[in-house]
Amino acid sequence: MSTQFPQGFYWGTATASFQIEGATKADGRGESIWDRFAATPGKIRTGETGDPACESYHRYAEDIALMQAMNLNAYRFSIAWPRVIPDGSGTVNDKGLDYYDRLVDALLAAGITPLVTLYHWDLPQRLQDEGGWANRASIEAFVRYADVTVARLGDRVKNWTTLNEPWCVSILSNLIGEHAPGLSDLKTALQVAHNILVAHGAAVPVIRKRCPDAQVGIVLNFEPAFPVTDSEADRRLARMHHATFNEWFIGPVMGHGYPQNAWLDYGENVPEVLPGDMEIIAAPVDYLGVNYYTRHLWHDPSSSDGARVLHQRDEGNVSARGWEIYPQGLYDIITWLHKTYDIPRFLISENGMARDDQVAEDGAVHDPERISYIRQHLEVVLRLISEHIPITGYMCWSLMDNFEWAFGTSSRFGLAYVNFETQERFLKDSGRWYGRVAGANALVD
Ligand code: FCB
Repeated sequence: MSTQFPQGFYWGTATASFQIEGATKADGRGESIWDRFAATPGKIRTGETGDPACESYHRYAEDIALMQAMNLNAYRFSIAWPRVIPDGSGTVNDKGLDYYDRLVDALLAAGITPLVTLYHWDLPQRLQDEGGWANRASIEAFVRYADVTVARLGDRVKNWTTLNEPWCVSILSNLIGEHAPGLSDLKTALQVAHNILVAHGAAVPVIRKRCPDAQVGIVLNFEPAFPVTDSEADRRLARMHHATFNEWFIGPVMGHGYPQNAWLDYGENVPEVLPGDMEIIAAPVDYLGVNYYTRHLWHDPSSSDGARVLHQRDEGNVSARGWEIYPQGLYDIITWLHKTYDIPRFLISENGMARDDQVAEDGAVHDPERISYIRQHLEVVLRLISEHIPITGYMCWSLMDNFEWAFGTSSRFGLAYVNFETQERFLKDSGRWYGRVAGANALVD
């Protein structure tokens, strides 16, 4: 198999506004649900908040220098809604938009294509005070925010993603409660999931109107699910994981609706769906962003008597987050998506590995496991491309170590190491290697 990637392949990294920007009060930025959540004792393991994170609001030139050192030609980042419209639905804050103007201009001057995500989780707190995404008023507010932002940047930014990982926005944040706003209610979580998909679909034509040559898509996270034994209980758990985690989001976006088995299983907790909603959600997209990290294994211990073990996790083969390293899962997910839905193009919008990185005596960070992780996933990407599945690029999570949500800065995913005391950043071994790959547009040693 060729180690060469197609001409024009996007090599980049991904970040999110709240995870890197810091400067949470600068230039009229409003409060977001993540500011409120992080300030609540016990929510972030390290007790940190979004300040300073990586101070990218002031240090974006250093970030771009890292990208240039890695020969990258694309950068996936997100815009902070509370910088643009501080209270979510009221006055537009030009100073917030000015920051993204400067960032976009600097990227373009460096030959780096901006791939912009409008919503990567930092909902203005005032909207949350009024019910957050469970309140349909947030849909309208999002569409206006999208309109205002694309009107300002759409002359230069042509790649627009409405939102990142609606599973996290809904289930992780409103049922499991691990992310902001930290609620634990299934009915609310499912209404949030529905409303945010409507917000996505309603924003798509508005983005196209403001930027007629835009490529518009959505980023979803996927996890293939496997039963540990061949017992019916384990197989059912795996099936339901696939339905609730994967199909629940891509199904409506691609016009297939919600998966029936999960809909029935959720009983009276299913969301209220207004006439026309499913058509709005199914607005045609130009690409699907796939975030892939790991697979999920399911086991009901009371059900396995005599059953055959199908997949046993190798405990040594996990990242510092305990996520199993399973590159085959990326192959499984993309081939399933390609067969099942009419998806024009794929972007690998996130993939990467947490590691307990330490600065060695020679001043460098040696992270061979991360190189191996990325290499194995890039091999899968090459295999998919050789099978004629259109994949336009690979965005490694992440450019640099950053504020990793509930883990604070304790969970490092960067290709660049960040010293959070001095804000000094430099490439790890993985970053140097990734730079050689991007420079060659080929999988090199
Ligand atoms: C994804 C998020 C991203 C980052 C990675 C590790 O779910 O989109 O912000 O936290 O996980």
